[in-house]
Amino acid sequence: MITINEHYLKLQASYLFSDIARRVAAFQEAHPDRQVIRLGIGDVTRALPGACIDALHRAVDEMAVDATFRGYGPEQGYAFLREAIARHDFQARGAEVDPDEIFISDGAKCDTGNIQELFATDCRIAIPDPVYPVYLDTNVMAGRTGEFADGRYQGIVYLDSTRDNSYVPDLPKEKVDLIYLCFPNNPTGSTITREQLQAWVDYAREHRALILFDAAYESFIRDDSLPHSIFEMKGAREVAIEFRSFSKSAGFTGTRCAYTVVPRECTAYTRQGGKQQVHSLWNRRHCTKFNGVSYPVQRAAEAVYSAEGQVQTRELTDYYMGNAALIAQAVQELGFHFVGGRNAPYIWISSERDSWQFFDQLLNEAGVVCTPGAGFGRCGQGYIRLSAFNSRENVVQAMERIRRALT
Ligand code: MLT
Repeated sequence: MITINEHYLKLQASYLFSDIARRVAAFQEAHPDRQVIRLGIGDVTRALPGACIDALHRAVDEMAVDATFRGYGPEQGYAFLREAIARHDFQARGAEVDPDEIFISDGAKCDTGNIQELFATDCRIAIPDPVYPVYLDTNVMAGRTGEFADGRYQGIVYLDSTRDNSYVPDLPKEKVDLIYLCFPNNPTGSTITREQLQAWVDYAREHRALILFDAAYESFIRDDSLPHSIFEMKGAREVAIEFRSFSKSAGFTGTRCAYTVVPRECTAYTRQGGKQQVHSLWNRRHCTKFNGVSYPVQRAAEAVYSAEGQVQTRELTDYYMGNAALIAQAVQELGFHFVGGRNAPYIWISSERDSWQFFDQLLNEAGVVCTPGAGFGRCGQGYIRLSAFNSRENVVQAMERIRRALT
């Protein structure tokens, strides 16, 4: 008899964004004449930067000729891309990261979901609430939690991010082994200061814990005092892994390219307390289960670091941040408490009522799709998230429709 992994049965209904997509599709079917504006899932809408398109074309032409054709590439990614990333994203900011510590992949979602495989099933996990659902769901699938009760999985140490702590969780009171952090934050759009992030690194060093730092939104940071990478912090190389993505910084959600940084010093332990290099384990996993991102896509990602690529990607993120500013201004004028939108493309709004009810109201009365905060965890109840990843015209129209619906 084939039996299933029963941990899957603990998962809540369906993945948040699939659930929302279903509800929006049902609404569209019932109201085919209504034009819906999507400020829900953080999916980009602007074309790829010209530098990336040119690089894609060139790489496709290379693939068309035997002499320059490429088959399997290195699983970890081509040196040209890893070197460009190390130089521009880390060394230029004073963070020590070598090219061979960078693993190119097809998405930060996959990497943040897969990384937990390396760690024991009984390690104590700290996960923020609200949170990007992938961190939690993948640990449920792996059997690191008990049942779901009162809006939470048993066995997880939840790190509440609320108005009281300005949406930056406090250090856990108890000892934990694996810590998920995301800054600029999805879903709240909040940011972490250098001092706060250093305190997390110091905690991890003291407790021999490991921090999984999701920096997928770092290109939206506009405040120069904020850290872009956890590796800007003293002592982080032994206790942190960082996830980055070209999805939001260069419009690659449909093109797929991301990377994970695992420093050679990053350490986990055997049950007997022996030191184990995490880099070699991730390398082993990556080579076994992944065959690399396609050559043209890696060339397109490399073009992000060219002179024109840098200008074009900045224009792209500036455009979305212009949308974020418009959303924030409209929400402020409506009198809601909110956070985010200054160094992140998300605006986290206190809806002052059940988040799914507010989601329904905005969909039915304004034809605008948001993401209900409750979908990100118990602390998200009473909030909604608006995303800035749409056209300027649609954002202006969406906020006008929301204004009319609510006043
Ligand atoms: C989100 O809307 O939270 C993100 O777009 C989801 C993702 O990046 O997978």
